[in-house]
Amino acid sequence: MGRVTDLRLAPRTGREVRVRAPGKVNLSLRVGSRRPDGYHPLATVFQAVSLYEDVVASASDELRVSVSGPQADLVPTDDSNLALRAARALAARTGVDDGVHLHLHKGVPVAGGMAGGSADAAAALLACDAFWGTALPREELHEIAAELGSDVPFLLMGQTAVGSGRGDLLTAALSRGEYHWAFGVRDAGLSTARVYAEFDDLAAGHPEPAVDGDVALLQALRAGDAPAVGALLHNDLQDAAVELAPGLVETLSVAEDAGALGVVVSGSGPTVAALARSRQHALVIAAAMTAAGVADSVLTASGPVPGARLVAGSDVL
Ligand code: C5P
Repeated sequence: MGRVTDLRLAPRTGREVRVRAPGKVNLSLRVGSRRPDGYHPLATVFQAVSLYEDVVASASDELRVSVSGPQADLVPTDDSNLALRAARALAARTGVDDGVHLHLHKGVPVAGGMAGGSADAAAALLACDAFWGTALPREELHEIAAELGSDVPFLLMGQTAVGSGRGDLLTAALSRGEYHWAFGVRDAGLSTARVYAEFDDLAAGHPEPAVDGDVALLQALRAGDAPAVGALLHNDLQDAAVELAPGLVETLSVAEDAGALGVVVSGSGPTVAALARSRQHALVIAAAMTAAGVADSVLTASGPVPGARLVAGSDVL
């Protein structure tokens, strides 16, 4: 038991591997001018939050994906699906030519700026690695993750981290206590590439972003000082997201009026993240957003939480 060869020879019928990966909020997102490769240099502080993508790998002759959960109809199941691309990338790296069926149950808003698709990719990498018994070292999984998308490495890692490069170079950060969030979600998502293009159009010549700008935020996280964290939430992409979805101004202000410690557009938006004083207060903010009609749906969650991980009950040898 436990050897790769044993696993690969094991009968596949009915075997399942289950992996859960979180979504994220950027507590701070500082963005520089577009690089020659088309990406923007970032300095960001990520927090993984308790909205989850659940991925189940099971036997199939081919590589295929199915999707369930709210907004499932918005997720492509063709070759552009990030979980399938992750499976393909792992198969190519390891020489596996087996198939797999990946079922994604979505708990993170689709195209919402919370990295749901990247969470699928992170979960699919771990799930296929266990299902195929390829047992790649963490560093190699991270390398493949970075090729799949800027946020994928963080969703493997989870908790709290400082990101640089295009968001894929990570250093773990200390964080004390639990942070409670209310999220205002829109049915119409925003394309990340479109928001970055709008960011370029709004202004040119941005300075190289430096994590020095987040020293106070990192200190507040270490101290578990939620009001200070709330006051320091920051997103350079917010104006671009608001330009593309002007209704966000109202969502932000309703959350603020409900007493949020801080409000910010999550990543490239359009999800609005409001930091609350407690779990109960997060429900109050969510209710205020619903009552004011400034979000299509609302969610509450807490963070930080771990990155992608195998769930008990998985059939892994
Ligand atoms: O890396 P990912 O595939 O998630 O990025 C999606 C798009 O977002 C990229 O094609 C690029 O247009 C934009 N992006 C960027 N700079 C980053 C990350 C993403 O311009 N650091």
